[in-house]
Amino acid sequence: MNHTNWYKTAVIYQIYPRSFCDGNNDGLGDIPGIISKLDYLKELGVNCVWLSPVYDSPQKDNGYDISNYRDIYKPFGTLDDFKLMLNEMHKRGIRLIMDLVVNHTSDQHEWFKSAISDKNSPYRDYYIIRKGKKNGKKPPNNWSGFFGGSTWERIGDTDEYYLHLFTKEQPDLNWENPKVRDEVVDILRYWLDMGVDGFRCDVITLISKKQDFKSRFPTLALCGKDAYIMGPKLHTYLKELYDRAYADYDCMTVGESVLCSLKDTISLVDPSRKELDMIFNFSHTDVDNYLGVKYFYRKFKLKRFKKRLAKYQYGLYQKGWNSLFLENHDQRRSTGRYGTIERGPLSIESAKSLAASYFFLQGTPFIYQGQEIGMRNPSFKSIDDYQDVELKNMYNMCQKNGFVRFLIGKHIFDVSRDNARTAMQWDSSKYVGFSKVKPWLLGTDDNKDRNVEDALKDKDSLFYFYKDMIELRKKYPVIIEGKFDLLFKSNPNLFIYTRTLNNEQLLVICSFAKKEIKCPVKDLFNYELLLSNYKEQQDLLRPFECRVYIKSR
Ligand code: NOJ
Repeated sequence: MNHTNWYKTAVIYQIYPRSFCDGNNDGLGDIPGIISKLDYLKELGVNCVWLSPVYDSPQKDNGYDISNYRDIYKPFGTLDDFKLMLNEMHKRGIRLIMDLVVNHTSDQHEWFKSAISDKNSPYRDYYIIRKGKKNGKKPPNNWSGFFGGSTWERIGDTDEYYLHLFTKEQPDLNWENPKVRDEVVDILRYWLDMGVDGFRCDVITLISKKQDFKSRFPTLALCGKDAYIMGPKLHTYLKELYDRAYADYDCMTVGESVLCSLKDTISLVDPSRKELDMIFNFSHTDVDNYLGVKYFYRKFKLKRFKKRLAKYQYGLYQKGWNSLFLENHDQRRSTGRYGTIERGPLSIESAKSLAASYFFLQGTPFIYQGQEIGMRNPSFKSIDDYQDVELKNMYNMCQKNGFVRFLIGKHIFDVSRDNARTAMQWDSSKYVGFSKVKPWLLGTDDNKDRNVEDALKDKDSLFYFYKDMIELRKKYPVIIEGKFDLLFKSNPNLFIYTRTLNNEQLLVICSFAKKEIKCPVKDLFNYELLLSNYKEQQDLLRPFECRVYIKSR
């Protein structure tokens, strides 16, 4: 099958199904709800959707714990609803990529239930099961996982443990077992045959583990990560999935990575290797933390942000394809982050400047639901208002351990994943037009001013700015293929870059300053203005002004 690489011209909108739109008024988003909003996505102009997991699941991690890969979680709808949604998307020229969660299953998956209840089960070797130390009183090693604590859970009162890098309800699959890989290939082909257009591959860089399973030198977080991040057979497994599934369909893949260096990134997305089309690299979202651990707060600096983005822009040029994003269901909202202003008159201007700063880079842009209307973090008052398992686990750890509590403090709420998961705000009514009953996670009243109804009425809204940016991407090949160059890299207030293709050059100027400043670009008169967040142009750049220019040489 000829791969058309359609993802290069795509703008991808991420839907987190439980929070997008509730079609049957039970407080939870669902597939009929999504169908009812497809015209909205069409209006925005996106041409692909990444759908977070909708598979059958006990929802311990909101669907990232799958109990049946071939069916839909009932409260979200049925397989027929899914097929209808896919068809309605395709009719509107919108492609669909699914979330592929195959580093682990749910502990309620039939494979796992069989594996732990019967030592002779054919599924026993689908998981990573090892004898504990001290006759089973202690786990096999000291590895710690992503939600804090040991990666091992004891199987009943036996002396054996299974590995789980996330919650104990998410046992890791044993990719060393060829049968597991056969299963994954079958799952991929099942959805591709149904017509889906690709996959966002959850924590895909964790699927191969070093097989020594020895304890590592103790560390504060992710102890043992050298054994489970970018493991020794990762490339082999990815290649196998490509050859046995992706090769036969005009589909795309974007893999989620963890602490991924430039070298590793290139090795994963180098087109000649045929492994993945893109990966999500989090180096720029980690700009406001230390060591890639979001709980370790670090002050935002625009220079660092530019440097990190530029590193991958230069590094992947003609070697691979970037994914471009600011938000997703695991990240807090970008409003009020990355040097922007959360409230008040400059808030929307700052959101536009930030948006322009990432949208014209080389790669495929992703927009997370609500980002296009500037949704904010809810800043709930109490731990009881939060729901996320990751936050609850960390919170409990803080309760038990004074040192961890001291290190993280209130920041634990700022970085909670629930910040991005509040109900999509369609209007400013009591339940924000998401549902007629109370949504499972509702934002706070002081944030209701950010809603779709108001945004659609205001031609200067963030929504229309995103729409304009999407239009520009469709019109100018230089935005897709042009070579990136960072200008004025040491300027602490301005993010300025060019993209150059043949005789065309795009110039993007984004101010992150709260006051007027001088624009250091000398030959602006050579360029034609395509987009800006201020109506009339003047010499000085106003607070958070952004401008996108083009010139033909
Ligand atoms: C990454 C997903 O984005 C996150 O939401 C999930 O908790 C973990 N992977 C585990 O699947």
